Amino acid sequence: MASTVVLLGSPRKGNSEGIAMAIANEAKAKGNTIIEYRINQLKNAKGCQSCYGCKKAGKCVVKDDITQVLDDIRAADSIIFATPLYFGQPSAQFRLVQDRFFSFLGGDFKPNIAAGKKAAIVVTCGSGIDGANKVADEIEGMAKNFFGMQIAGKMVKGNMMAPDAATSDAAIMAEAKAIGQKL
Ligand SMILES: Cc1cc2nc3c(=O)[nH]c(=O)nc-3n(C[C@H](O)[C@H](O)[C@H](O)COP(=O)(O)O)c2cc1C
Repeated sequence: MASTVVLLGSPRKGNSEGIAMAIANEAKAKGNTIIEYRINQLKNAKGCQSCYGCKKAGKCVVKDDITQVLDDIRAADSIIFATPLYFGQPSAQFRLVQDRFFSFLGGDFKPNIAAGKKAAIVVTCGSGIDGANKVADEIEGMAKNFFGMQIAGKMVKGNMMAPDAATSDAAIMAEAKAIGQKL
């Protein structure tokens, strides 16, 4: 059975989560196992410590609540990356996990996770989508260029201030479902 890890970078049950879970629920409906992480709820979660221990061990040597997240991503067939745009950047919560992806690069800086995982990318923001597009492109670049992932879909949505702006928009939900079909 295919497994999908959902990385939820928002501290609230809002737009990026609403879109990510619409993608995930569609993937679940076609049989995928879904493992979702609301990163904000991890109690003991550190950013990358730049110890380079992973370059010898082949995996992250920092032991905290992100350890399981990384193990699940290593085993997953697909990953849904979801973050709000905060001051033109991904959220701090999202970055905590993303920087730990450094451990998926071995001592030779080649990936030590299997290539070909599918990725869906979701970025929401309050205003126009220029900044959010840039963030989504950067996540795509990381996923494709460092880890050989295949991009199943990318959703970048602006004017997403109210937490239910995405889930109350039928066209956005339909777009999310179509991506879920591909995971
Ligand atoms: C700390 C913070 C910083 C934000 N910075 C931006 C920003 O730079 N550009 C923007 O368009 N919206 C910004 N917003 C609005 C959020 O990106 C927007 O509401 C987004 O849809 C929130 O995602 P969520 O509903 O998944 O929490 C900011 C919101 C917060 C709380």
